[in-house]
Amino acid sequence: MSKSYRVAILGATGAVGTELLELLEQRCFPVADLKLLASERSVGRSLQFKGENIPVEPVSDRAFEDIDLVLASAGGSTSKTWASIATQKGAVVIDNSSAFRMNPEVPLVVPEVNPQAAANHKGIIANPNCTTILLTMAVWPLHKVKPVQRIVVSTYQSASGAGAKAMAEVKTQTSAILQGKSPVAEVLPYPLAFNLFPHNSPLNDLGYCEEEMKMVNETRKIFGTSQIRITATCVRVPVLRAHSEAINLEFETPFSPDEAREILSNSPGVKLLEDWGTNHFPMPIEATGKDEVLVGRIRQDISHPCGLELWLCGDQIRKGAALNAVQIAELLVEKNLLKPSQAYVSR
Ligand code: A2P
Repeated sequence: MSKSYRVAILGATGAVGTELLELLEQRCFPVADLKLLASERSVGRSLQFKGENIPVEPVSDRAFEDIDLVLASAGGSTSKTWASIATQKGAVVIDNSSAFRMNPEVPLVVPEVNPQAAANHKGIIANPNCTTILLTMAVWPLHKVKPVQRIVVSTYQSASGAGAKAMAEVKTQTSAILQGKSPVAEVLPYPLAFNLFPHNSPLNDLGYCEEEMKMVNETRKIFGTSQIRITATCVRVPVLRAHSEAINLEFETPFSPDEAREILSNSPGVKLLEDWGTNHFPMPIEATGKDEVLVGRIRQDISHPCGLELWLCGDQIRKGAALNAVQIAELLVEKNLLKPSQAYVSR
């Protein structure tokens, strides 16, 4: 007996949406029917799925009739508008925006870290922030062995985090600069080509930006503890689609780099990449298009006996967003958490 599901991608034309489409096909997700939803701007466009051209439809109430699963990646306000409508019509929504992440009723899930949380869903499951997903992938396996007390993380975030238009803008700016022209910034607040700047999300009274606070609060929610002290500095860099992070961890007792290496080389979704002889460690160009989070440069923190330093790169669009969402969908199917009445069942 096999089940397949009627799926809608909300934000199908965006950077994450197009990756969701590709992943559903690549990973053979059991799709009975697929609806591609975006704004009115995309009317007339179509996208390919399994060799078939599927028209993009403007999102509307009616679009969620007869849908089992919505993969949403169209920004927070769009999710706030449509997620409850979709759930009222019987769909389960896996939402990539920040709209519901800190809602206590909504599970925030990284399948390799807290798959059990998905079982408590009431119609919406939130996909964490991209930098948070990558951080938890490297830290959770170590935290399970020896609880981490404090995390200090600095990010080097690619343009893809701001969407397809920001990626295009960096390319245009790069080519303008190479032609001796002034770069124009319309999507991001400042030119990113040949430059970098602290993350441009709104700042709080303490001087932390929203992206940094997402890392703090979401990591605690995913780990199921408010005890870990976390501080983050988020920076946008002129890389197209993979984020990097320098992570300093403080444990209660010493954690040897070799022990951390052993653990991380056996952790699902993580790939250890270290060649000390050639100074070869994870780079965004190597992480691009890969499912795994690349981790390396693991070393003892010389300033603290219980400190450990590590470095990672991960594809922001893939594990940082679309892949994690599809893995959550696969988890729902595997654990029978998409209601059988919503599924097409064939013998
Ligand atoms: P559209 O292409 O029609 O603007 P990205 O994160 O790469 O910028 O992509 C954002 C995605 O969200 C796109 O698919 C975009 O569609 C979609 N989107 C943005 N605003 C809305 C909206 N108000 N209603 C529906 N989809 C939206």
